Amino acid sequence: MSFGKPKIVCFVCNWAFTEQELAVSRIRKVADMSVVRVMCVGRIDPVIMLETFIKGADGVLLVGCAPPDCHFVEGNVYAELTVKVLKKLLVLADLEPERLEVRWVSPVEEVRFTGIIEDFAKQLKKLGPSPLAKEKYDVNILEDVSAAKNAVADFRLRALIGKEKELTRSVNAYGERISQIEFNALLDEVVKAEFIRHKILVLARKKPFSVRELAEVLNIKPAVVLRHILNMRRKGMIALANIDGATPLYEALEVR
Ligand code: FES
Repeated sequence: MSFGKPKIVCFVCNWAFTEQELAVSRIRKVADMSVVRVMCVGRIDPVIMLETFIKGADGVLLVGCAPPDCHFVEGNVYAELTVKVLKKLLVLADLEPERLEVRWVSPVEEVRFTGIIEDFAKQLKKLGPSPLAKEKYDVNILEDVSAAKNAVADFRLRALIGKEKELTRSVNAYGERISQIEFNALLDEVVKAEFIRHKILVLARKKPFSVRELAEVLNIKPAVVLRHILNMRRKGMIALANIDGATPLYEALEVR
C-alpha cells in the first residue's frame, strides 16, 4: 500500500551534519520529517524510539558517525545493537522492523543525508502508513508496542545489549567465550520472554485474567504462561486478584 509523505522522525548525531545539510528542501518533498539532533546516536534511549512509533511515526531513523568515528568511542556500535533488539521486539509486536533503521555517514565518503532520507522514505512508502498512525489505530498493536517499550525499559534487556561485545569477544573467568551464535540464541530467548511478561502486565492492568485467557490472547501454551506468572509473582509484578469458581485470576501490581 502506497501513501503520500511518510512521517519520519530522524535522530541525527550532532557531529555528522551541518545545518545546511539538514535544511535541504529535497527532503521535504519526500517526507514529513522531524529532526532531533543528539550528541551521539548511542545516547538515544530505546524507550524513546518505541514511544515515537506509539505517537504515530511511520518510521524512525538514526543517523550517526560511521565506525570508528564516534566521539564517544562506541556509541554508534551500541546504537546498532539497540536497534537490533528493537527490531526483534517490533516483529513480536507485529510492526514491520523495516520501520526502524540506523545509518552511518562519514565525511570522507561524502554520503549525502538527502540520499539516506530518500531511500528510507521509499522503503516506508512500500510498507504503507503505520497501523498506529491511522485515526482508527489498531489497539492490539498499540498494546504490543507498549509491552515492547516496557520490556526495553527493563534492566534485563538493557544489560544484555550493553554486554554483547564483552560476552562475545572476551573470555570469562573460566576461559570460555560465548560465540555470536550462542549469544543471538540467548538474546532471542530473553527478548521473547521479556515481551511476553510485559504483554501479560499490559493485559492484566486492564482486568484480572486467567492463565487460559492469557494463553489464548498471547497465542502460546498455558504451561508457558503459567511459568511466567509464577516467575512474575515471585518478583512482585503480578498477584492473585480472585478465584472465579476454581479458576485463579491474576492482576498486575503497579509497584514492582
Ligand atoms: Fe556521532 Fe557517536 S558521536 S555517533
